[in-house]
Amino acid sequence: MSTGKYKPQYPRVAQLKTAENLRDHLNKEGINLGFDEELKTGDNSPFAKAHTTRAGNTIGNAFCILPMEGWDGTTDGKPTELTKRRWKNFAISGAKLLWGCEAVAVQPSGRANPNQLMINEQNLGDFDELYQMVESEHKAAFGSTDDLLTGLQLTHSGRFCKPNSKTQMEPKILYSHPVLNKKFGLADDYPLMTDGEISELIDAYVIAAVRAQKTGYKFVDIKHCHGYLGHEFLSAYDREGKYGKSLENRTRFIREITAGIRAEAPGLEIGVRMSIFDWVPFKQGTEGTGIPAAESPYNYAFGGNESGIGENLSESFEFLKELEKLDIELLCTTAGSPYYNPHIQRPALFPPSDGYMPPEDPLHGVARQIDAVAEVKKAFPKFYTVGSAYSYLQEWLPNVAQNVLEAGKADSIGLGRMVLSYPELPADVLQGTPMKRAKICRTFSDCTTAPRNGMISGCFPLDPFYKKMEIHETLKTIKAS
Ligand SMILES: Cc1cc2nc3c(=O)[nH]c(=O)nc-3n(C[C@H](O)[C@H](O)[C@H](O)COP(=O)(O)O)c2cc1C
Ligand code: SF4
Repeated sequence: MSTGKYKPQYPRVAQLKTAENLRDHLNKEGINLGFDEELKTGDNSPFAKAHTTRAGNTIGNAFCILPMEGWDGTTDGKPTELTKRRWKNFAISGAKLLWGCEAVAVQPSGRANPNQLMINEQNLGDFDELYQMVESEHKAAFGSTDDLLTGLQLTHSGRFCKPNSKTQMEPKILYSHPVLNKKFGLADDYPLMTDGEISELIDAYVIAAVRAQKTGYKFVDIKHCHGYLGHEFLSAYDREGKYGKSLENRTRFIREITAGIRAEAPGLEIGVRMSIFDWVPFKQGTEGTGIPAAESPYNYAFGGNESGIGENLSESFEFLKELEKLDIELLCTTAGSPYYNPHIQRPALFPPSDGYMPPEDPLHGVARQIDAVAEVKKAFPKFYTVGSAYSYLQEWLPNVAQNVLEAGKADSIGLGRMVLSYPELPADVLQGTPMKRAKICRTFSDCTTAPRNGMISGCFPLDPFYKKMEIHETLKTIKAS
C-alpha cells in the first residue's frame, strides 16, 4: 500500500499488540489515556446504554456516526449514488445516533465545494428519500428504528467557501484574521459579511430547519466547529456591531437561529457540534513537521490559551451555559480545524497533502480531546455529550471508549474515519465480535487528501469499492510526489 514518501516517526498502533505494550508506550510518551483490558458484552456493556432526550427521542446505544461529507453531491446539491452508499453504511453500522450525516449548506454561497449537498425547495424530495433510505436500511438490519435518531448538519462554510469551483475560494468572513487571512491569501481589508447578510443567513438556517423537519429529520445541528462560519462567530473579538466583541454578541448567532427554529419548527430538536477548543494555525517547519504559524500571544483560539498550543475552556463553558439556557441537550464535541491545525482535530500518522507531519504522537491528540470532553461532561452533566477523534486508536478503540463511557467522561462515542473503512464496527463491538483487522482505518488521510485535490472523498486504501476506482491511481501519484 502506498503511503507516499513519508516515513512515520511514531510507533504504529498496530505494533502495540498487548495491553502491556500500550501501557508502556503511553507511560513513555506521558500520555494519560485510560483503557479497559477486557470488553464487556450484552446489556452489561456501556456501549449498549440507551438514552431518551428531554424532547422524547430515544438513542438506542452509545455509538454515534459523526458527520462526514464526500464531496460527491450534484452541482445543484442533490445526493448521488455515492452519497447514498455512504449514508447506507452509516444506517447499517449499528450506531443509534447519526449526527447530521454530513454538512449540508443552507445557502448556495455558503457551500464548501460545488458538490456539497444543499437543502432547498428543489431538493426536498431527495432529502426525504435519503431519510427514508436510512430508516429502511436500519430497520432491515436491526428490526426497528424506534431508537434510531437521525439529524441533519446545517452549515455555512464561511472562510472556506468554494461554491462555484473546486479551486476558487470565495470566502465569507466575519473579521480580518491576522493569521488565516494571510494563510489563505486574503488582503487585510477583504470585505466582511454585513449584519444584514447575517440576518438573511439566520433566516436561511430557520428555513432549512423547517425543511429538515418536513423531510423526517429529528434534529438539526447548528454547526459551530472547524473554522466554519458558526465557529468564527465565537472568536469575532474584533468585529464591530451586534455580532462581535462581547461574548453576548459573539453568541447571538446561535440564539437567533434557535429562537427562529423554536417558532417555525416546534418539536424539532436542536444540537450543536462545537470545537470545544482551538489552537493557533500550524504550518510545515523546515523538516516538514508542523509548527505554529504565529507566535504567542495568540488571541483568536476560542477555548485556547494565549500560547496558541494549549486549552483554556472558560469561554467554551460560557458558550455551553448559553446552550443550556436555550434548552439544547445534544452536544457533539470536536476541536480545531482540518484546514489549519488538523493534528488536533483528526489525529493521524500520515498527514493529508495540505498538512504537515504530526508534531506529536497522534495519541496525544486523542487524549487531549477525551480530557477536554471529560471536563465538559463534569461541568455540564445535562448535555448528551458525544466525543470525537477516536479513530486513531485503531485496535484499541473499543477498550479506550469503554473506559471513557464507564468513567462518565462522555455519553456517546463518535466515529468518523473508522466507519469509512469499517462501517459495521459498532455492530461488531456490541455483539462482541472481534475487530476485523483488514478494515481498521490506519489514518492514511486519503479521504482528506483526495478532496483537497479536487476529487471525491472515500476510503481509497481499504474500501474495495474506492480502491478499484481509476482516481485511486491519480491519488497515489499525488501522494508519491
Ligand atoms: C472525509 C471527512 C469528511 C468530514 N466531513 C465533516 C463534516 O461534514 N462535518 C463535520 O462536522 N465534520 C466532518 N469531518 C470530521 C469528522 O466528523 C471527525 O470529527 C473527525 O474525522 C475525527 O474523528 P475520527 O477520529 O473518528 O475520524 C470529516 C472528516 C473526514 C475524514
Ligand atoms: S482513507 Fe481510509 S484508512 Fe485513510 S484515513 Fe480515511 S478512512 Fe482511514
